[in-house]
Amino acid sequence: MEASMISIIVNGKEYAFSVGDGHGQVACSETLSFTLRERIGLTGSKESCGEGACGCCTVIMDGDAITSCNTLTLDCDGSSIVTIEGLEDPVTGELDPLQQAFIDYYAFQCGFCTPGIIMAAKALLNKNPHPNDDEIKEGLSGNYCRCISQYHVIDAVKYVAENSGGEE
Ligand code: FES
Ligand code: FES
Repeated sequence: MEASMISIIVNGKEYAFSVGDGHGQVACSETLSFTLRERIGLTGSKESCGEGACGCCTVIMDGDAITSCNTLTLDCDGSSIVTIEGLEDPVTGELDPLQQAFIDYYAFQCGFCTPGIIMAAKALLNKNPHPNDDEIKEGLSGNYCRCISQYHVIDAVKYVAENSGGEE
């Protein structure tokens, strides 16, 4: 019997996986976080709580910010995922303006939460290029920073919202 296959697009590149419990196969219980980090080698997204509570593992799936630690890879079949590694310009390597703003505003300390926060902010700005303070706080409400960098994070996102154009 032919093994069933799934395919997901990650940062513009298609990956196909065989589904099953055998070696090298994606099991029904495998999370997107595991697939991204352990199979594809994209370790930018971090895993902390492992249960959807902290936002460290946030990636963008079909335009929405999702927590990859509690998303099953099988449920991503046919979807397009963007991780923190997918934000830089693939040709020049230039950082996304949001990544640069986090550097300029010192919007992190240990940095463990940062990829998830940037991806949540990116999803917000893609949908709403000019969010107000409350909208930024709401958009990042699922992301926790133990180093208490929140004020700098909001300043960085506000800078991009006010200076990076986007759809009116
Ligand atoms: S590691 Fe996924 S939400 Fe905390
Ligand atoms: S910068 Fe350390 S957890 Fe946020």
